[in-house]
This record gives sequence, structure tokens and C-alpha cells, in this order.
Amino acid sequence: MTQPRKPRFPRLLVTGGAGFIGSCFVRDVLARRDGTRITVLDKLTYAGNRANLAPVESDPEQAARLRFVVGDIADPAAVGPLVAEADAVVNFAAESHVDRSILEPVDFLRTDVLGVHVLLEACREEQQRARAGERSAAPRLLQVSTDEVYGSVETGESREDDRLEPRSPYSAAKAAGELLVRSYFVTYAMDVVVTRGSNTYGPYHHPEKLIPLFVTNAIDDQQLPLYGDGLQRRDWLYVADHAGAIGHVLEHGRAGEIYNVRGGNERSNREVVTALLDRLGKPWSLVRTVADRPGHDRRYAMDGTKLAALGWKNKTAFEAGLAATVDWYSENEAWWRPIKSGEWETYYRRQYGARLAGSRDAG
Ligand code: NAD
Ligand code: TYD
Repeated sequence: MTQPRKPRFPRLLVTGGAGFIGSCFVRDVLARRDGTRITVLDKLTYAGNRANLAPVESDPEQAARLRFVVGDIADPAAVGPLVAEADAVVNFAAESHVDRSILEPVDFLRTDVLGVHVLLEACREEQQRARAGERSAAPRLLQVSTDEVYGSVETGESREDDRLEPRSPYSAAKAAGELLVRSYFVTYAMDVVVTRGSNTYGPYHHPEKLIPLFVTNAIDDQQLPLYGDGLQRRDWLYVADHAGAIGHVLEHGRAGEIYNVRGGNERSNREVVTALLDRLGKPWSLVRTVADRPGHDRRYAMDGTKLAALGWKNKTAFEAGLAATVDWYSENEAWWRPIKSGEWETYYRRQYGARLAGSRDAG
């Protein structure tokens, strides 16, 4: 058997590692069995779930290389000592749902902006320690950002040096976070990289987002609230591909650079919903047209040339990834049913109560 390659960063701090994409990254890195040790720092908000790391925790060899710390990236006392022990920090921690950012933006500023600043300051402290000879190198920081920072792209594909024109409190906070990261590269020559990923889907995705919401509602023959005309377009990226791209940029990306992570699977929301209903064998009549999201971005699309030149390729075709995702939700009700209770019910009423009451046939 060939030995796994020695990791460039043997000790990782993964913030937000109990969320959707972060937990996939943690599962996939630990499953390489290359000796990498991971500390997860996660606040366990409504979106964080330790069950996302169950496959790791049930494998003694992997579990021994994982440490889980419950804490806030915006808390310097929690962050400082963990960054001090890390060779690299990968920041997935964020408030991540556009609709919640429209209902209540403040948590987005705290985590997606101030939290990033706290991580940067902790890394700067370590840079100073490295310069003083107290550690071998400063930690590298990878900031996980999003295609939503470009705003709505009516035609063409966003490139990394395009203007940022975020239009929701979520995307504005993410843009602010990554601009801070950039400023620390320019001002302090810190070792930072940024990825901008497109709409991600796959197992362990919180049911507030389009695909898991519609799949789990359809399993229960509940209505599917489609915003506006449903002709908004997104570029879909399978979660394992997104996590893999982040690992690739962590290892090979140039300091100070930004890399788009495109899925190459542009679909309208209606096309996505048709495909998931087909897979489930459920009727289109479940779909209801509801009042649109305010400021709804019509389309996201990114150019992926820069990351391709770095040697990364997307592996999963949308049809295969969607089928695997739908099947996973069908087989893992024990994972999502508890999430769709408690706080969820209050959120659901607030977000969809009036919308569904005033809904109409989706044609
Ligand atoms: P998620 O909402 O599923 O997970 C976020 C995680 O961060 C949760 O575990 C939560 O508990 C944790 N968290 C939140 N606030 C925290 C804080 N203050 N301190 C520590 N932990 C905190 O999100 P996701 O979909 O996995 O997204 C991960 C990252 O990827 C985010 O930065 C998001 O902006 C970005 N992104 C997401 C997508 C997507 O389609 N999901 C696409 C592109 C980029
Ligand atoms: P979402 O999964 O929230 O991701 P994002 O807003 O980050 O793209 O939404 C994906 C698309 O689906 C977006 O155009 C909004 C739409 N959508 C609905 O039509 N109904 C819903 O209930 C949700 C959650 C999303």
C-alpha cells in the first residue's frame, strides 16, 4: 500500500467545521489518513451540528486526530490560543443564509466581518512570533468566500478582479470580510488566500436552503415555496468538490490571491426543482409561487480559469450529485427531522407563513 503524502499543514484550525461545507472538509481531510490533526472551532449556532462529524467520531484513528472546541470566532480569547497551535486556519464560520440576513442582519456583521477580523489579528500575532523566532512560520489563513460578493450577474462570468457589488446583508458582510483579509495581505504581508465558491449542494446541507428544503418538504408532501418566477439562475457545485477545491487552494494557492470555485452547472431554479421532484417521484403540483425575496439576485456565474490553471478540476456532474443528494435525504431522515423542529418552526412561519397563505399555482 502506498503511504499518503506528508501534509503541508499538519495542524489545521477549521472554524465553522460543524457546518455544511466545513464538516465535509474535515471528514475528507481526516479520511486521507495522512496524519493531519484538526481542531474545529464552532459556535454551534442553529446551523452547526456535531452529528455532521459523526463519521469521523466513530472511527478511532480519525477521532484521535480531531479536537472539537465550542466557541466564537469573534472572541479573541477563544481564538488566540488555537491559532497559536495551528499551521493554517481555514475559515468556514459564517452566518450563511440570505433570507435570515434579510430578517436580521446583525449576526452577519458580528461573525462574517468582526469574526474574520479577530482571526486576522490572531494570525498577525503569530506572524510576529514567527519573526521573533518563536515559531517556524506564520499560519496561513484561507478565507472561504462566495460568488455572491459579485452581486447579480445578468450576462457573462465574473472574474476574480471584477468589482464587488454585493446586494444582500449576507453578501455585503462576506465582501467586507474578504476585503479585510486583502487589507492584511497588503498592509502586513500576511499569508492569506481567498476562495469564492458557487452555490453548493450535497449531504448534510441545512434544510433552510433551496435543495434540502424542497427535498425534505416534498418527502412529506408539503408545499414548495418558489420565489417569484423561479427563473433565477445559480451555478451548482457539489460539496465534496467545493471542499476539495478549498484544500487545493490551501496547499497551492499564492498568498494574496483570490480563486473562484465554479461548479460549471448553471441551472434555473425551476430546472433544479423539476430534477429533484423527478428523482423523488413527486408531482410538480407541490410547487407554489410565493412572494419574491427582496433584492433577489437574478444570476450568479463565475469564470474558473484561474483555479483550473492552479491544477484543480471539478469532478461531479450536476445530475449525479443531485441524485446522490436526494437519495441521502431520503435515507437520512434521522439527521434532518430534528433540525426541522423547535427554532425551525418559528423561522419557517416568519419566512413562509404569509408567503404560502398568499401563494398561487406555479404553472
Ligand atoms: P453553514 O451555515 O452550514 O455553517 C456555518 C458554520 O459556522 C456552522 O457550523 C455554525 O455553527 C458556525 N458558526 C457560525 N457563526 C460562528 C461563529 N461566530 N463562531 C464559530 N462558528 C460559527 O454554512 P456553509 O454552507 O457550510 O458555508 C460555509 C462557508 O462557505 C461560509 O463562509 C459561506 O459564506 C461560504 N459559502 C457557502 C456556500 C453555500 O452554497 N453553502 C457557497 C459559497 C460560499
Ligand atoms: P438559497 O439556497 O437560499 O441560496 P442563495 O440565495 O445563496 O443562492 O437559494 C437558491 C435559490 O433558490 C435562490 O434563487 C432563491 C431560491 N429559493 C426559493 O425560490 N425558495 C426558497 O424557499 C429558498 C430557500 C430559495
